[in-house]
Amino acid sequence: MRILHKCAPFALGIILSGCGTSPSFLNPASSIAEHEAKLYNNILIMALVVFVFVEICLIWVLIRDRKLKGDDTLPQQIYGNTKLEITWTAIPVLVAVVLFAMTVQTMKSVAAPAASATDINLHVIGHRWWWEFDYTDLRIKTANELHIPVGATVQITLDSVDVIHSFWVPQLSGKTDVVPGQTNRMWLTADQTGNFFGQCAEFCGTEHAMMRINVVVDSQDRFDAWVANQQKPVPQPQTEDEQAGYKLVSTLCASCHSLNPGETETKVGPNIAHLFSRSTFAGATYDLNEENLRSWLHDTQPMKPENDMNLKLTPQEIDELVAYLLLLK
Ligand code: CUA
Repeated sequence: MRILHKCAPFALGIILSGCGTSPSFLNPASSIAEHEAKLYNNILIMALVVFVFVEICLIWVLIRDRKLKGDDTLPQQIYGNTKLEITWTAIPVLVAVVLFAMTVQTMKSVAAPAASATDINLHVIGHRWWWEFDYTDLRIKTANELHIPVGATVQITLDSVDVIHSFWVPQLSGKTDVVPGQTNRMWLTADQTGNFFGQCAEFCGTEHAMMRINVVVDSQDRFDAWVANQQKPVPQPQTEDEQAGYKLVSTLCASCHSLNPGETETKVGPNIAHLFSRSTFAGATYDLNEENLRSWLHDTQPMKPENDMNLKLTPQEIDELVAYLLLLK
């Protein structure tokens, strides 16, 4: 009974992972995830049929050939029965062939479509521990939060500046490794608007778990408005605090963070030209609001240990930085 108690939440988790807003490929929002889910379900059904058949045979044999009191005769021996051996070799071979055919069919269905002029080209760069998104044609750079229009084909190239990461948004696509020194490719098309959660899927160090992805699938109009806003240059500081903050950002922060939305260079930290247009920061792990930003500027290490940002700022510098950063919508 105690083991049942221990297992119940675990089993419930597995059952619930298939429904609701769970970020699982079994809850698909794209043709790729749909094909993956179909293959998974077909294999699951086949495995269940085999499991039930084998268990019934096993129980039947155990009952039929159980040893009765005082009966020392052996059950019927079937060693060397050619017919039986051919049957139990042929059936698994047939099952394997069907699995192979279904897998090849699924691989064909999720193959990248030919590039077209209307595609969105996206360069994904993995960093320890955040994602850089470079919309090469639109001259936009952002981090961790990816905006794409519903229905558009997104052609993605992936690179890493340090170690191997893996880009994975289960409801939209399969995993693709992000390997230093090698450019990998993938594609995706989202079939519905909404927010889709993703995660680095290759262990890449201490903060691997805090290397998340937030994909916002917008209508075309909303996406166009987002693009227009992202392309705008940063606003000029007005108040005294904002001016002091701007000065700090341009000197202290500029070596790692760019204020240029169309920056082509890959920097150490995320592009912050439109920082407050995002809902999260630090690898999409904290809500982006003034309070969290203040804690972050005070000391980033308790919030995300071993990340590259390690500044000792005075309370006044934090006030000034926050005053300016809040303008970056
Ligand atoms: Cu990046 Cu795990």
